[in-house]
Amino acid sequence: MKRILVTSALPYANGPIHLGHLAGAYLPADVYVRYQRMKKRNVLYICGTDEHGVPIAIAAEKQGITPQQLVDRYYADHLDTFTRFGMSFDNFSRTSRPLHHKTSQAFFQNLYDKNVLVERTVQQFYCETCSRFLADRFVEGVCPRCQQPGARGDQCEKCGSSLEQTELIKPYCKVCGHTPVLKDTRHLFFKLGDFQAKLETWLAGKKGWKENVLNYCRGWFKEGLGERAVTRDLKWGIQAPAAGYEEKMIYVWFEAPIGYISATKEWAERIGQPDKWKEYWMDSRTKLVHFIGKDNIVFHAIIWPAMIMAHGDLILPADIPANEFLNLQGEKLSTSRNYAVWLGEYLAKFPPDPLRYYLAAIAPENKDADFTWTEFQQRNNSELADILGNFINRTLTFAKRQFNGVPAAGELNDLDRAMIQVLEKAPVEFGDLFEHYELRRGLTALMDVARFANKYFNDQQPWATLKTNRSQCATTINLCLHTVQTLAILMEPVLPFSAEKTWAMLGHTGSVHEQLWDEAGSLTLQPGHRLGQEQILFSKIDDKQIQPEIDRLAAISKNQSPTAAAPETPAEPVKISYDDFSRVQLRLAQVLKAEKVEKADKLLRLEILVGEEKRQIVAGIAKHYAPEQLIGKTIVVVANLQPAKIRGLESNGMLLAAEDETGQLAVLTPDRPVSCGARVK
Ligand code: 2FM
Ligand code: ZN
Repeated sequence: MKRILVTSALPYANGPIHLGHLAGAYLPADVYVRYQRMKKRNVLYICGTDEHGVPIAIAAEKQGITPQQLVDRYYADHLDTFTRFGMSFDNFSRTSRPLHHKTSQAFFQNLYDKNVLVERTVQQFYCETCSRFLADRFVEGVCPRCQQPGARGDQCEKCGSSLEQTELIKPYCKVCGHTPVLKDTRHLFFKLGDFQAKLETWLAGKKGWKENVLNYCRGWFKEGLGERAVTRDLKWGIQAPAAGYEEKMIYVWFEAPIGYISATKEWAERIGQPDKWKEYWMDSRTKLVHFIGKDNIVFHAIIWPAMIMAHGDLILPADIPANEFLNLQGEKLSTSRNYAVWLGEYLAKFPPDPLRYYLAAIAPENKDADFTWTEFQQRNNSELADILGNFINRTLTFAKRQFNGVPAAGELNDLDRAMIQVLEKAPVEFGDLFEHYELRRGLTALMDVARFANKYFNDQQPWATLKTNRSQCATTINLCLHTVQTLAILMEPVLPFSAEKTWAMLGHTGSVHEQLWDEAGSLTLQPGHRLGQEQILFSKIDDKQIQPEIDRLAAISKNQSPTAAAPETPAEPVKISYDDFSRVQLRLAQVLKAEKVEKADKLLRLEILVGEEKRQIVAGIAKHYAPEQLIGKTIVVVANLQPAKIRGLESNGMLLAAEDETGQLAVLTPDRPVSCGARVK
């Protein structure tokens, strides 16, 4: 192997990044890449945003902005979040760039010219109200397999079945709610089935691959691969280059993986060697590793390799370490219900390393894992702070105070020799685990070194030998400082920020990531070397910090219907009669007073005037409005709602506010003065 090309699945630029993303395709890749760099291997790490496709078109339409505006916003957001989490991409590109369009069209053309893309006429839903064909998720309906409403045109989230949109029962247009009609339309199809035998042989040779990936593929082979449509009737995307297809776009899942190539090209151009991308994509001595979440397996392990085979001159992935899913507080993550931990919000409250650590420690390598705030707190406090941080801190403090730097080691006793052996073995042991994407075991091994070191410190009692046997004390501290140095290097892939701090505290210049992994256990500190400034490495997290997070998720979880089977996507809008609507009394009210509710960071208590009547309501808008912004405002309230007790306060009515997909909230107000108490119809 001459070089390694690592990719992480390109995240859709239609919403912020959450925990599940990080645990699946990003953190494991970043750890792997950081480790390989310290092994001094030639490694390139590529990622970027996936900016086309139906979900993006729908999200933009819903928000009243153009798809380009939407992806611009989330490209910047993803890049910022990933950077702050220490994701060390060599290039983070985006699929809306011209270079990617050009590369994808050339790829498409190549396959078209080879006759592996063929034309078929199919029946597809057409919405006469919106005047368009409804690609994939633009149409929803009841799942024909499990009867779940809100199943999408390509898949039912509930039972996981992959669907043809024509199979949906009671289909409706996701945008306007109307029932679509079936019409003929032409599309180009990729003859995937032609590659089945070749794919089966190729995958049969992948003995070291994760079982989940291989099993998944076997399932697909059993069903037979058939043909897959690779064009879509859409306005947003990359134009299909074939004659007669100018109105159609290339299917997003066809072009997204090509994004790995375009991002490599872009990197090569940036470093002034535009042809260098070929080394990574056309030389069989490159090891290509795709990090993904399990929902992306078929695209990376079957369709993409078949595309590569059809293309002919590109290398196939050497490994696809797909991770399982991460659950949250015992439940499935759901972005539409806001049942997620958004990384931007996390970073506003906590540093990145504790999360990197905890996610790596529970990585969903072979089965789904569960993130809980309590375990996050506990592992931060009892492992990072009490074991790792404590050892580093006590060693540096002692060395500085008693020896003003690194003391020379004297004669070694058995304990010293045991400590040295641990340091020598550690890089090899860890290396092997990281090489095989085994983060969980890697972190256990890291903590074991720190535990061993704490015990070594205790057993050697340097505070006692300082008075009775100064040379032995010096030996102990010398070895402890070397252990700190080893730990700094070994923790770099998972805890890069803390590793840099530790490196600086050891009085080193330069960066820890420039060090040689293989020499992490060597005794290289010179006696007399001065140590650096002490810094806080890991702070403890207390209950007060995590309780609001737990409460927020519990509240969302409780609001779910008792069947606990609410679809991720909203079901078909229920039609109500005018009578139903007129039973809801909406009225204008004026806000007289507004104040925060104690110990409830989301709630405001409002005193309002509805006509002549004064009332109190409690509203969950404190995160969006300061109390003084509301005083004097005219708002819309549901005036005949049954009173409820919220946090011990009576709430007599409910104000109306609009909330978009990003959680932004706007209180509704009339656009010209109307008298207080007026009915809203
Ligand atoms: O599942 C997703 O988030 C996709 N955007 C992943 C694309 S990976 C690659 F093929 F680009
Ligand atoms: Zn419509």
